[in-house]
Amino acid sequence: MTIWSGADLICMERRPALVLANVQVPGGRRADIAIRDGRVVHTGAGSAADQVIDCTGLFVLPAAVDIHVHMRGGSQSAKEDWKTGSTSALAGGVTVVVDQPNTIPPLTTSEAFITRVHEAQAHSLCSFAINSGVTPDTPFEAMWKAGAMAFGETFFAPSSYGKALDAPELSRALGRIRGLGGLATIHAEGIAPGEDTNLAAHDSLRSPEGEREAVIAVQACNPVGCRIHFCHMSTAGAIDAAKGTVEVTPHHLLLSREKTGSADSRFKVNPPVRTEAERRALWTRWERIDIIASDHAPHTKAEKALPFPDAPSGVPGVETMVPLLMAEMIDRRITLTDLVQKTATAPAALIGIPPAGFVPGDRADFALYPRSAVTVEPEILHSRCGWTPFEGCRAVFPETVIMGGAVVYRDGEFFRGNPSWFAGRGHVPQSQEPPGT
Ligand code: DOR
Ligand code: ZN
Repeated sequence: MTIWSGADLICMERRPALVLANVQVPGGRRADIAIRDGRVVHTGAGSAADQVIDCTGLFVLPAAVDIHVHMRGGSQSAKEDWKTGSTSALAGGVTVVVDQPNTIPPLTTSEAFITRVHEAQAHSLCSFAINSGVTPDTPFEAMWKAGAMAFGETFFAPSSYGKALDAPELSRALGRIRGLGGLATIHAEGIAPGEDTNLAAHDSLRSPEGEREAVIAVQACNPVGCRIHFCHMSTAGAIDAAKGTVEVTPHHLLLSREKTGSADSRFKVNPPVRTEAERRALWTRWERIDIIASDHAPHTKAEKALPFPDAPSGVPGVETMVPLLMAEMIDRRITLTDLVQKTATAPAALIGIPPAGFVPGDRADFALYPRSAVTVEPEILHSRCGWTPFEGCRAVFPETVIMGGAVVYRDGEFFRGNPSWFAGRGHVPQSQEPPGT
């Protein structure tokens, strides 16, 4: 007698739209992944499907969720917009981005929030969530109901297009976010006065010690116990002080002042690129790093060619995040398990969206990578800004990317899929939202 599992029965109801054949799943066994209606329906022996992709010789990874991306748009469209930013994400194996609210003007009204959702729905090729800005005037409840995924990045130090909150303002904000059961994401830095003339000065004015003290000060503003996520932490000392979840970027893991020259404005970013010694120390905290996110912050080449004090801070990175880590994995400096955990599993869990993976019911978002690395050149990337701080680095880019069970990127070509808006837990659908959100 044949005993069918639940998944087998589901599988037999209708044939899968897509099968990823000969996938090496975690644990080492080879399996075929059957996908239908945007979900994995079966992992095991293959079945007939509308489309079959042979994954022999490829690394098949759950696609990444980049929880720190500045998609720009509006008056900042010369840097990036939803179309170019989302193609850049997909070509880097990222199928979900969390957009940061330091837009111009900052995203602090529910009307502006809903307009931003509509803009993304009209133009984004990848799935997305959007955070609420945090200022003294933010209507927290209205933003939560409008669908904000989290609050912040909340600036506890000024940065590009971000005005800092002082300690009393931050305490009040954390009290309100705690009341809603939300997540506060925080840019924690301390800034000393002085002339910001080159990368060394930038590093000493926004110092490692200042970052650590800012983390401690943020936590002192949180007697209510709001959930805190620390964005883009750049030093081991600050990570040691952090009690919330810890995010680190590829640029802080891979670039150092010694590697970048002294006054090249392209590498001006907040928090700063640190010394080689600090960069190495950051790697010693690898186990404590919960999430890797890009802090994709595109600025135009012309802006980045300005003299150091006048150039805006920020570097692009959504497209290179996983590919650079894949090269680290191929060179055996990190494991594939850690890579997937920190770029896909943990970020999805933090923001509360379904995980992508190999188990029936998982979100069917995957990226298929070859086994060899190439050299990063700006010409192969898709961000409108047209440059990268990782030029010359080794990276492994995906050949194929699948989102919601459909191929959305293959060998340099994009295909329109069905991007989702992931609204936060407080979302109350509004009458002016289009159907299907
Ligand atoms: O360097 C940065 N640039 N850090 C930030 O926190 C903001 C970002 C931007 O939006 O350009
Ligand atoms: Zn930031």
